[in-house]
Amino acid sequence: MNRTKSLVQVALMTTIIIILGLLPAIPLGFIPVPIVLQNMGIMLAAILLGAKKGSLAILLFLIVGLFLPVFTGGSTTLVVFAGPTAGYVFAWLLVPLALAGLRQLLPFSQPLISFALIWLSGVLLVDVIGAVYLAHYTNAPLLPSLLSNLAFIPGDTIKAAIATLVGIRYRKQLGLD
Ligand code: BTN
Repeated sequence: MNRTKSLVQVALMTTIIIILGLLPAIPLGFIPVPIVLQNMGIMLAAILLGAKKGSLAILLFLIVGLFLPVFTGGSTTLVVFAGPTAGYVFAWLLVPLALAGLRQLLPFSQPLISFALIWLSGVLLVDVIGAVYLAHYTNAPLLPSLLSNLAFIPGDTIKAAIATLVGIRYRKQLGLD
């Protein structure tokens, strides 16, 4: 695939992640981390672009965020990395690599397996790393932090299902299957 096409794909995916950040966050009250839609963009980057280009799209998003308020609610990268959600956003960077690694372990393209792999990498991994960092950030014990993150699982599971369906629809067209 030519370089220009890859660059356009990466830039488009970064744009999609930024656009998803325009949707308002839903605060939960009992935890200083809101429900957002932007993490579905991270799952889409991993599914549609694979390890290298997906990671690049997320990295580009973080670089743009150094200068512009691209995160949900209008935060910038440095503000986010200094706050309670830093763990989740750090974990976002790992999602494309984790998904690619899981795909090598289980190289089947059945929808349910695709969904399970994106759920493990884009939901479980992110929420666990996010919760561990949140416990550290708030000086709280780990278990309550992990338990409070269960609040994200239903919504994140729906996002993973939507991302899987989009992936099934478009991966072939992007030459990834
Ligand atoms: C930020 O904009 O500061 C990042 C927000 C991170 C929110 C995390 S992502 C995983 C989990 N699912 C959600 O809907 N919210 C949290």
